[in-house]
Parts: sequence; C-alpha cells; structure tokens
Amino acid sequence: MNINTNYLNLEESYLFSTIARKVNEFQEANKDAKVIRLGIGDVTLPLTNSVVSAMQEAVTEMSNSETFKGYGPEQGYEFLRTAVKEYYGRKNVELAPDEIFISDGAKSDLGNILDVFELEGTSLIPNPVYPTYLDTNVMLGRKINFLNGNENNNFLPMPEDGDGGDLIYLCSPNNPTGATYTRDQLQIWVDYANKNGSVILFDSAYETFIKDDNLPTSIFEIEGARTCAIEFCSFSKTAGFTGTRCGYTVIPHDLVLNGTKVNKLWLRRQTTKFNGVPYIIQKGAAAVFTEQGQKETRANVAYYLENAKIIREAFTELGFWFVGGDNSPYIWIKCPAGYDSWQFFDKLLNEAHVVGTPGVGFGSNGQGYFRISAFGNRENVIEATERIKKLFR
Ligand code: MLT
Repeated sequence: MNINTNYLNLEESYLFSTIARKVNEFQEANKDAKVIRLGIGDVTLPLTNSVVSAMQEAVTEMSNSETFKGYGPEQGYEFLRTAVKEYYGRKNVELAPDEIFISDGAKSDLGNILDVFELEGTSLIPNPVYPTYLDTNVMLGRKINFLNGNENNNFLPMPEDGDGGDLIYLCSPNNPTGATYTRDQLQIWVDYANKNGSVILFDSAYETFIKDDNLPTSIFEIEGARTCAIEFCSFSKTAGFTGTRCGYTVIPHDLVLNGTKVNKLWLRRQTTKFNGVPYIIQKGAAAVFTEQGQKETRANVAYYLENAKIIREAFTELGFWFVGGDNSPYIWIKCPAGYDSWQFFDKLLNEAHVVGTPGVGFGSNGQGYFRISAFGNRENVIEATERIKKLFR
C-alpha cells in the first residue's frame, strides 16, 4: 500500500497549528509574559442565554425515554432547516428546506464538497485566502489556478485577476482580509460562472458582520446564482459555536451538472459519510433564529465590531495601511517597511506579547501583511493595541 502522496505537497502543518506551537514555545520560555491572542479567529463571548436554554431543554428531552432521540436525519432536523429557510426569506431569498444541509461547520463541508466533483477540474482559489480551500485541493491533487488579490484590487480579486477555473472559491466578508464584495462585483462573478459552466463555492461564514445594507450577505441575493453557486455558512463566528460546531450548506436544485442535481449527490454523500449534527446542538442553533436569539447575536457581533473599530483606530493612528474591520472581524495590515509577515509576527510576540496571523500563511500574496482578529475580549484588545502603539509609535 502507498500513501496519498499529494499530502507530501502540503505545508508541514496547518497554519493555525504552527502558530499555536510557536506561541506555546514562547509562553513556556517566558512564563510571566501575558500573551494576548488575536491570531486564530476564535470567539471569546460565551453562548447566549437563548442558545443555552434551548440546549438545556434538549438535554432534558434526551434524558427521557419518550423524547429521547437517536440517529437524526443526516441533512439536519426539519425545525432547524425551516429556521434557516425563514432567515433567508427575511433577506428575500427563497429556499426549499431540502436545499439546506445542516453541517458541523463550514470548514468540513468546504473540504468534503470536492467529493461530488470530477477530480480533473481546475480550482480557482484567491491568494490570499482561508488555507482550508487550498489544502483540501492539494490533498486531492487537483489542478489549481490562483486569483491575484492585492492592494490594487483591495484584496477583492475579479475574474480578470486569474486564469479561470471550474470551481471558484469566494469568501465575503473575506478571511483573512476582511474585504467584502459589493453586489455589482458578485454579479460579475455569477455571470462569469454561468457563462463558463463553473461553480462558485461561496463561504459566507462572516455574513452577520456586514453592517452596510448595500453589501450582499448571501450569494443567492445575486440574480442567476441558483444555477451556479453553493453557499457555506456557520454559527461559529455569529453565535459562538466554534467549540460547539454547527453550520449549514445551501445547494439549490437549479445547480445541475451533466444533467444531475448537485444537491442529490451531496445528499447521497452525506447520508453515506455523515451521521448529522447532535440534536442538542441543533436545538441550540435553532434558538439563534428566534427573535430573542437574533437580538443576543446582534449584540455579540456589535461587541466584536467595536473591538475591530478599536484596532482600526490604533493602526490609523500609527499610519499603517489596512483593509477590513468595518464589515468584518478581521483587519488586514501592511507590515512596516523592513518586516515580512513572520518577522512582524515574531516582533509582536517577542516585544508586545501579542499574537496575530502572518499574512503569508494565507498565500504568497499575503507576504508582508498581517491579520489581526477582533474576537478577543475588550480588555485584551485595548491592552494589545496600547502595546502595539507603544512599540511602533
Ligand atoms: C481563522 O482564524 O481563520 C478561523 O478561525 C479558522 C476557521 O474558521 O476555521
């Protein structure tokens, strides 16, 4: 037996594992240092009251033989799919409940979706971008074209910034840059995909951070998207589910390749390889869509956006170039002259005891850039920005 040698083409370890190792080594060697972590986009606010109450009720149900649940539907309980459908309905996007698949988060589905496409196709992946897209394609040995994101296009690459592809990865608001596509820009992408018979894999994990009403929060707000797009979303950043795991993937029935609905293949794939998200978690996720749940969620998002504002103000004061942080929880900074991404990472860690994410970890175009996450707690964000200002003033 041989290994899948495509794995040998991956970086030695996943970006966030490398960072965690480096930070742990630093902390081990500097036991008294108070390290502030604004690296991985992990939330710090706890689950909201509505979510916790719904989960507690679900635990009680599970402890009673009359209401106990064993295996659930692989594509998710109807109550949650209906809640997602109604959420989209409020954005004037009509979905059928069976176009929605409940997942354990966007990351798994973004990787697993490759199962239903031919291996020979070419993936078009923005550079820089969330590393899962690239790594999962490398693992399968797929052909990859890159989309050139840079300061000139404000890190929002358009079709002319790459050599085309069959599977197009778009993330908006973007991870890592925080930049958000406009309606007109997404219309160009949708028209491009429909014309070329490509499929857009749209990652909307950060959609609740969009505060500007003119910006689209779903690819399905764009005319023609139902025939060319799949959307991946998550409760992680919206409702604090990074440790609880729940998300959803939308595959419209109108997405048909070789006369076959992609939705049908994904259902077949999920029923075979996935046993669904736990009932208790899905009950908590459904509570996010209640009136009270939405109120609480908006308050959490507002808290992180206020953190983002504090970070933006600090870098404005220092005169750094940056993008993001207005409709997203990430701020993408240009490192000061003389520093590449990892040198800047080391400088911040060693001298300010602040952790961010080196831009180059998201692709070669991220070299010389650095991502700061706004998911920390307020006190830490304020302290981190004060330390950074002191270091670079
Ligand atoms: C990030 O920091 O980029 C995210 O937390 C990673 C993820 O969502 O998996």
